[in-house]
Parts: sequence; structure tokens; C-alpha cells
Amino acid sequence: VEVQAPMVGLPNDLTDLQQQVAQCQACGLCKTRQQTVFSAGVPNATLMVVGEAPGADEDAQGQPFVGRAGQLLDKLLLSVGRSRQNNVYIANVLKCRPPGNRNPEADEIAQCEPYLRQQLALVNPKVLLLVGRFSISTLLNTDKPISQLRGQVHQVSIDGRGVPAVVSYHPAYLLRRPEEKAKSWDDLLLLKRVMEEQQA
Ligand code: URA
Repeated sequence: VEVQAPMVGLPNDLTDLQQQVAQCQACGLCKTRQQTVFSAGVPNATLMVVGEAPGADEDAQGQPFVGRAGQLLDKLLLSVGRSRQNNVYIANVLKCRPPGNRNPEADEIAQCEPYLRQQLALVNPKVLLLVGRFSISTLLNTDKPISQLRGQVHQVSIDGRGVPAVVSYHPAYLLRRPEEKAKSWDDLLLLKRVMEEQQA
């Protein structure tokens, strides 16, 4: 794998950043992707959701969370009054699909994280929802399991500003473990409270 120069000076505009991501060859996933998957929703949203990585449907359509997990995410978001057309921005830790939907690898996350950080800086959300262990470990710098992190409000530093972040299970996990869905609805209630507090 050819290693790119460090990504200094990423574009200060989401459209330009998306175009740069579309050309990215920083890790081996560029060889197996059909296309990059950058974001869904609205760029000036006050709520930003961060997931893991594109799956097969996302890789085919070029949009995050368009498969079954995405349909569940849409329902969860509706419970806090948001939809892709209304005040939410959705992105993933990885912009390219890992083959066979395997877990992201550490070097892939390391190469892709600057893009996510730049999205955070440019969207500048008031509140974050992190779903699944990879968005949580990447943005909260922790290896603790979700079970130990949920129910509290965390902080993600965006351009030196602490932005409140609520964590929850990944919707794909909830599809496999529907008995955990009750907990995710509790997490969304916490998210709603934080959004109200932040006037997000
Ligand atoms: N799972 C994710 O984490 N992101 C997607 O875009 C789709 C499924």
C-alpha cells in the first residue's frame, strides 16, 4: 500500500473535502471499494451522528446508513425529531467499505480520522451521537465497552471546544440483538435532553 503524505491542510469546505476523500488512496480499502461514502443529511446541522464504516448497500449507493441498519437509525433519529432532511449530519469513521464488512483496522482508522475530524470542525455540531464501538473508541479515545460508557454525557474536542457526545449501540448490533433496543431508546432520551440543554 502506498502511503500518502500526511494530510495537512485539508479543505475548509465540505464539498472540497468530499472531493478529496473521493480520490483518497491512503489505505488498502481504496482497492476494494466501489466508491467512497462521505455523508448524508445537512451540512449545518446541530446534531451529528458518527457510525463505523460503509457496508455493501452504502458502498453501492455512495450514502451512509442506507441499508437495514440505516432504516433503524432513521427511526431512532425520528424519536428526537430529526431526519436526513431535518437538522442532522451523518458520517462514518471510515469512508470506504471494509471487505466483507470486517471490522476497521487500526491503520485504516488512523489514515481516515483526519477526514472525520475535519467534518466535525466544518459541520461544528452542538451535540454528537456516537453509535458503535469504533466511533466511540476513535473520538473518545477509550477502549471501554459501550455498556460502561452509556448513560453519561461525554465530551469530544472540536477545535478546542468540548462538544457533548452521547454514545449508543450500533443499529446493526441492535438488529442482531433486539433485546438491547430498549437501552438504545434510553440513550436517545438522554440525547434528547442534551439537545434541549444545548438548544441544538
Ligand atoms: N453501518 C455504519 O456504521 N455506517 C453505515 O454507513 C452503514 C452501516
